[in-house]
Amino acid sequence: MALTHISAIDDLEPFRISKDIRSWMELTPGQDSPAGGLQPASESGEGAVGRGTSFPMDTSSRANDNSSAVEDGPNIALTVNGVTREAPIPTDETLLDTIRVRLGLTGAKRGCDQGVCGACTVMVDGQAVRACLSLSVNCTGLEIVTAEGLANGGILDPVQRALVESGAIQCGFCTPGLAIAARALLNENPEPTVDEIRVAVSGNLCRCSGYVKIVEAIGMATRG
Ligand code: FES
Ligand code: FES
Repeated sequence: MALTHISAIDDLEPFRISKDIRSWMELTPGQDSPAGGLQPASESGEGAVGRGTSFPMDTSSRANDNSSAVEDGPNIALTVNGVTREAPIPTDETLLDTIRVRLGLTGAKRGCDQGVCGACTVMVDGQAVRACLSLSVNCTGLEIVTAEGLANGGILDPVQRALVESGAIQCGFCTPGLAIAARALLNENPEPTVDEIRVAVSGNLCRCSGYVKIVEAIGMATRG
């Protein structure tokens, strides 16, 4: 089947794409998240909410995660994918624990949990960072974007679309982090050279591919 013009999540259905790959690309907040993802805690359904909304605690994703038990700490506010919420987060809780366990946003993966693999990469104020090495308390007032927040209104980000269309996804574990690293690069440098692309993704380990298609895909994304 020819891979032509995949632009939205529903377009992926004919390709029987794995549930894991599908889940990180899932765009509608709360669709697959037992805790409601980034849906506001209020019943108003008015979309993004301001400060004061509590993080929903996602106990099911906690059970499936290798993190230690989540405890409460002082209230801090975080803005994730355009939504600002408050939660009692301990000062030593990592951003990866907060977004995976409290928010149920499992696009960012827990690979090494020690800053080596890049699977947990998210954007913080436009920079690709390791969520497993970042403390949530230090991200107050900053804009955090996860793989779930890359797309807009069900339409894939050009980086996501290019990764799918070029066959750069195999098991998909590294893909959310790669997509974030690529988006951070392209926001800063819309026409990177191949070498610049290679440098940008050099901290994102892929166990499956030889990186050729990944680099090609990011190059494709520069052309929209
Ligand atoms: S899980 Fe963060 S770098 Fe590997
Ligand atoms: S596609 Fe499997 S780790 Fe990259």
